[in-house]
Amino acid sequence: MIATLDIKVTKAATSKLPGIDVENLPFGKTFTDHMLTADYADGEWRNFEILPFGDIAFSPAISALHYGQTFFEGLKAYRHADGKITVFRPDQNAARFNKSAERMCMPTLPEELFIESILALVKVDKDWVPSKENYTLYIRPFMFATDPFLGVAPSTTYKFMVLLGPTGPYFSKNLKVKIETGYTRAAEGGYGYAKAAGNYGGSLLPAKRAAEQGFDQLIWTDAQNHEYIEEMGAANAMFVIDGKLITPLTRDTILDGVTRKSIIELAKDFGMQVEERRVSVEEVLKAIDSGTCTDAFGAGTAATIAQVAEIVHEDKTYTLPNPAESVFANKMRKALDDIKFGRVEDLKGWNYMV
Ligand code: PLP
Ligand code: COI
Repeated sequence: MIATLDIKVTKAATSKLPGIDVENLPFGKTFTDHMLTADYADGEWRNFEILPFGDIAFSPAISALHYGQTFFEGLKAYRHADGKITVFRPDQNAARFNKSAERMCMPTLPEELFIESILALVKVDKDWVPSKENYTLYIRPFMFATDPFLGVAPSTTYKFMVLLGPTGPYFSKNLKVKIETGYTRAAEGGYGYAKAAGNYGGSLLPAKRAAEQGFDQLIWTDAQNHEYIEEMGAANAMFVIDGKLITPLTRDTILDGVTRKSIIELAKDFGMQVEERRVSVEEVLKAIDSGTCTDAFGAGTAATIAQVAEIVHEDKTYTLPNPAESVFANKMRKALDDIKFGRVEDLKGWNYMV
């Protein structure tokens, strides 16, 4: 049961929605009419407020800007054929939000306040949830440190915010990916498992270099020897080898993805064997060569199931079977979408009604 949060709502005088083609937008560039903000000070969260989307002003000394005390979440709202709107597994994002908060030495937010904030904001902007197949409302909760202080110390004040934006598929084609053996995303003892902004900032240069070489994404490998697969861009890496679903076991270098854990659960329901363990680069490349690897994909909220067409490792190209004919990835995509878009009964309780 969710406690009722007292959220002050100030509606935008006019909506930007008329004139915007919400079903034809690139990811992350268009925001809805409203946003949510809350403040942390003196050990408590207060001032939950939904207000017109707009710029915010802060001291240029806030510690989020200097020392990276900031992190985010990503989840989505779906419109069902009967008009109902649901948010997919926000409880999982609420729990991960607090894991990130703890690692970044920031205050946690009670899970029910995280969930209720999101549901309330989506309700205010419900007309923005697209109805076209594969189109959704992306939800971006985040927190940042607001003390205007240049000492390297945890802030005592923070802001929690939620933004919304209609979006279509993040990737429009099957991916050509490079196994990264020089740069590292996260090392043991670091904060790769947190959705901290710094993890993404540090990935931009390797991703840019890879894009210049014609790649769509990177497969991150372990920091020590670059022998084991960790993640695929901003998604979890999954493979089907010998008919088994194989995915790196989450650890402190890997984000514990909600899409990943949902796919694992559905695959087990379908009677498939699932192995969560360390997955070596060598094992995957050998399996592709011998034809026993039938699927490779990234799993994530923005990425959904992003299938891989080609993997390049040290200048050698490994070609996967035609992704369009993949039995597993296509079955999983359908199974997940059927639940998210309300086409089947939500037996697992993954959908939260707006
Ligand atoms: N790994 C990273 C680094 C990510 O940024 C994401 C995206 O959120 C994921 C994995 C997938 O997580 P989820 O399925 O919860 O979106
Ligand atoms: C998500 O899938 O929600 C993400 O956070 C990926 C994002 C960095 C674009």
